[in-house]
Amino acid sequence: MTLVDLNQNALRTASARIRRFAPRTAVHNALEPVGELPGAPFDSVGVNYLLHCMPGDLETKTGRLLTSIRPAMSPQAVLFGSTILATAAKLSRPARTLLAFYNRKGVFHNVDDQAEALDRALGAAFANHRVELVGGVATFVASDPSPREPS
Ligand SMILES: C[S@@+](CC[C@H](N)C(=O)[O-])C[C@H]1O[C@@H](n2cnc3c(N)ncnc32)[C@H](O)[C@@H]1O
Repeated sequence: MTLVDLNQNALRTASARIRRFAPRTAVHNALEPVGELPGAPFDSVGVNYLLHCMPGDLETKTGRLLTSIRPAMSPQAVLFGSTILATAAKLSRPARTLLAFYNRKGVFHNVDDQAEALDRALGAAFANHRVELVGGVATFVASDPSPREPS
């Protein structure tokens, strides 16, 4: 298992928590070309709760993420993940306040994120994909990268 994150502290904490799996770690910006990752190519790639932290519109940032990680995926790899959509569900007042606060602070960048944009980006990069909404969270799975590069 290889854990990848921009933040060394997050990697240190997460890898200590799953020490029994002997994880490898890499500090990497997921919007930049992935280069050499220990353990690549992978048959399974998880991108959980990452996209709502990234700046930019959802279709573009998903496309960039997929372009970046694709060289690290084996041809039979499955991609899965989740992201919080700010407008997909009716939120309680505390949830709305927290979401607005995180977006103001630049912790989240998801005020305009819509499931349709995610669907388009995954459809452009994979022959098979599925997006499901669970409350305000979009979960997704995709396989069989299409020959054409995602935009
Ligand atoms: C909400 S946490 C989710 C962490 C983990 N995937 C999970 O499900 O528990 C978001 C993580 O994304 C990382 N992150 C944000 N932008 C990133 C980027 N451009 N490249 C790599 N990691 C990034 C943050 O450092 C943070 O650890």
